[in-house]
Amino acid sequence: MDSQTWMMLSEKYVAHTYARYPILLVKGKGTRVWDMDGKEYLDFLAGLAVCNLGHCHPKVVKAIQDQAEKLIHVSNFYYIEPQIQLASLLCQYSFADKVFFCNSGAEANEGAMKLARKYAKEKMEGDRYEIITMERSFHGRTLATLTATAQAKFHKGYSPLMPGFKYVPFDDAEAVRGAIDSKTCAILVEPVQGEGGVNCPSEGYLKALREICDEKGILLIFDEVQVGMGRTGKLFAYEHEGVEPDLLTLAKSLAGGVPIGALLIRDEIAESFGPGDHASTFGGNPLATAAGVAALTAILDEGMLENCQKVGEYFLSRLEEIKKKYPFVQQVRGRGLILGMELKMEGSSIVKEMMQKGFLINCTMGNVLRFLPPLIVTQEEVDQMLEALEEVFKGVS
Ligand SMILES: Cc1ncc(COP(=O)(O)O)c(C=O)c1O
Repeated sequence: MDSQTWMMLSEKYVAHTYARYPILLVKGKGTRVWDMDGKEYLDFLAGLAVCNLGHCHPKVVKAIQDQAEKLIHVSNFYYIEPQIQLASLLCQYSFADKVFFCNSGAEANEGAMKLARKYAKEKMEGDRYEIITMERSFHGRTLATLTATAQAKFHKGYSPLMPGFKYVPFDDAEAVRGAIDSKTCAILVEPVQGEGGVNCPSEGYLKALREICDEKGILLIFDEVQVGMGRTGKLFAYEHEGVEPDLLTLAKSLAGGVPIGALLIRDEIAESFGPGDHASTFGGNPLATAAGVAALTAILDEGMLENCQKVGEYFLSRLEEIKKKYPFVQQVRGRGLILGMELKMEGSSIVKEMMQKGFLINCTMGNVLRFLPPLIVTQEEVDQMLEALEEVFKGVS
């Protein structure tokens, strides 16, 4: 069957929650993917920050193959070897003492918010359940994470939203302080906002949030679903400022492309989750966590953090150069290999033209071109993509 027929069947049978581009990808290797018609693309989207190791990393493929032959799934009623391995690795390399596994970013954030409420009931005075989140944030599509996401466009049609959330501007610690009252139990923030337009806070912002949380006795939750696992050049984005959260959520790239989510927790808080308090059938299943162990080990062993820092700096400097040449480029920003180029106009036609030229990029917030290549991308590949981008820019009237 040809790609056109498949796409027609997709429109017929798959729910229309995505406005899809007319290509059907069938193969991937490293930084490249191929569509059903044999066309090759350099992937600067990486499955939306999922394929940090590149497509079909051999160690992840092997881990999945080996595990699939041994044991794909068992219930969390029993101990699971790769789950224990992945949890120990995550604790070894982060602030955390315990890990709760689930299947997605939204589910990890749900877990974080439930735990914050439960901990507040047990350990904080009064009735504290409210969570402060930031404008332009993105935390997921379930009802609670959608409510936590302080962007009106995602709320439309879903009222009544969950009670217990308050929104303040991003990168404004004083606004957070001003919003805290006797109901507040936690602050939830992305160390770098992804969907909201690749927004990096000023230096000192995360530290100020930590201080406020300590002073008020409330919890600090970092959502690193998009920026965790090396995306910013450190394994976790919080490491750049040396500020540790109480809870941290991960998903996307944690298992090299296999669905997974994780909630990283400090011991004192983890005690509030006892048997039966929270669960997920697939959470931490053998297949996903075996892939996670392989992915995490490869990120650390194969110099991917170093490459991300080096190529990320080069990439950002090239974007700065391009900005100087084209007056419709408003700003470039980002950290490591999550980079954004804000335009003074809509970016969707640029994304389409780049796709025709064989480059997958993305546009968020309507006018921010977002670049999320695998962490193994080379300077030469960055040059190739930017050469194509400039060709497209030259055609912009
Ligand atoms: C920062 C952040 N949190 C949460 C999510 C939701 O993750 P998922 O789509 O896996 O539920 C996303 C997805 O883009 C995200 O970028």
